[in-house]
Amino acid sequence: MAASIVKRVSRVKKLNISHISARYKLLTGFRHFSTSKQWNKALVLGVYENESTDSIDFTGTARKFDEKADGKISQLLLTVKKPLKCGKTRTLHAVDPEFSSVLVTCIGKRGEGYDELETVDKGRESIRAAVAKAVLQLRELGENEIEVDSCGDTEASAEGCHLALFSYDDLKAEKSRKPTVRISCATRYSQDKNSMEKEWRKGAILAEGQNLSRRLMEMPANLLTPTKFAEIIKEQLADKCEVLVRDKDWAESMKMGSFLSVARGSVEPPVFLEIEYKGRQSDSPLALVGKGVTFDTGGISIKPSQGMDAMRGDMGGAACVAGSLLSVSKLQLPVHVKAFIPLCENMPSGSATKPGDVVTAMNGKTIQVDNTDAEGRLILADALCYSEQFNPSLILDMATLTGAIDVALGAGAAGVFTNSDDMWNKLQKASVRSGDRVWRMPLFNHYTKKITECQLADLNNIGGSRSGGACTAAAFLKEFVNNKNWLHLDIAGVMSNNGDVAYLGKGMSGRPTRTVIEFINLMSKETNN
Ligand code: BES
Ligand code: ZN
Ligand code: ZN
Repeated sequence: MAASIVKRVSRVKKLNISHISARYKLLTGFRHFSTSKQWNKALVLGVYENESTDSIDFTGTARKFDEKADGKISQLLLTVKKPLKCGKTRTLHAVDPEFSSVLVTCIGKRGEGYDELETVDKGRESIRAAVAKAVLQLRELGENEIEVDSCGDTEASAEGCHLALFSYDDLKAEKSRKPTVRISCATRYSQDKNSMEKEWRKGAILAEGQNLSRRLMEMPANLLTPTKFAEIIKEQLADKCEVLVRDKDWAESMKMGSFLSVARGSVEPPVFLEIEYKGRQSDSPLALVGKGVTFDTGGISIKPSQGMDAMRGDMGGAACVAGSLLSVSKLQLPVHVKAFIPLCENMPSGSATKPGDVVTAMNGKTIQVDNTDAEGRLILADALCYSEQFNPSLILDMATLTGAIDVALGAGAAGVFTNSDDMWNKLQKASVRSGDRVWRMPLFNHYTKKITECQLADLNNIGGSRSGGACTAAAFLKEFVNNKNWLHLDIAGVMSNNGDVAYLGKGMSGRPTRTVIEFINLMSKETNN
């Protein structure tokens, strides 16, 4: 059975790795793990919500385990009169010689599926949340090898546990870090172990992509500079993708005046990443574009200091692009993807862009920068123009672009602006599978007017008033796109998790990485990308 390691714990000293590489591993957050460990085994079993006080509605795996244990599990559960409700758990000990704990988790009502109003598959979401809670409780008990019930949807079960066990504590002392947990799928009673293992692996890879996004977003900006981001991407993706790291001179030669106007305020040099995954020969790749502002102070239009630390996550779009590529390449999807990631810091300094300055983007359009805090659209303008040169079949950009999308949708869904109903339908379908929702927003001319009414240049980088801020930002980006299949995802509202998603801990969320992977998966089946 293929067990997966959820967290790789540093045994740097024991492995006698050189000081420099040890520090490097620590700073990048990708560590080694030890195999000389005492494993305490536990099992997670699923049950459906059931009003009856004299029978338990087990999942297939749980029923077989109960039979093998001569009905001990059902007897113990029925000693308590109150039936288990969705999201609740019971932990049993000394019921099986192999497992020190058997945790029973309730996965909701049998047969639950797509909920139209919620635009989510409730069955899959309940499984993710139920197994997530289970593995976290078992980790608290000191269990470190956990076999998990597939609960009728192996992929969702794998996603739930792998996402729940993520924690970014690489920079903490070893004793303060969460312990290593090995998780695997309980395939022992399955008729078709192979296909179950395959599904489990797919779920684990989907979660791994999102966890890479989370780790990158969480990393402090003094460690994750544009240069470091590029280094980590090379380390993570270079064996499966071609990674080109472009410097400032290259961006100058491409006439990316809009991107460079943001980078100008920082001593950290900008980087433009170009990544290619060729899972299939084609002349029209899917283009992904991600905002990579490794720290957004606002520039001269400086932000208030309270909560500014969260702006280390302003490269969330770039992180989600990287996380998606990691999963797409690990799943070896038959698709051709090209990714474009402009990376820089937005800082105030003597060399920073000033409000009222006019800059020229790659397509020749002039932009009056009335607010230097609206920098995301400036770096994306050039990245979108550049992506068009590769004849993409679609362009999907992701950006923590506006506080306004957070006001509109909160963490409920990523805002999607698209010129294609077909693309919208496919993205929404993908989000129903992932449980990481999207919501369509307008691209009306009404908003375009707000940014084309400009005193000195073709465009203004802000819309004049605060109203409809996410829509004016999208209208601005539209000026740099000709592609008929363009999707812009404003992900500022879903950037961090504060108890919003049950199976994600507090902190940077890595949303909507899994939706994008599912979308690319759909596209790989339906078109010739
Ligand atoms: N990075 C921010 C948007 C943001 C806000 C991301 C909250 C994550 C959480 C972006 O660069 C920004 O500052 N946008 C301004 C635009 C305004 C000046 C037109 C905003 O939303 O206030
Ligand atoms: Zn900003
Ligand atoms: Zn920003």
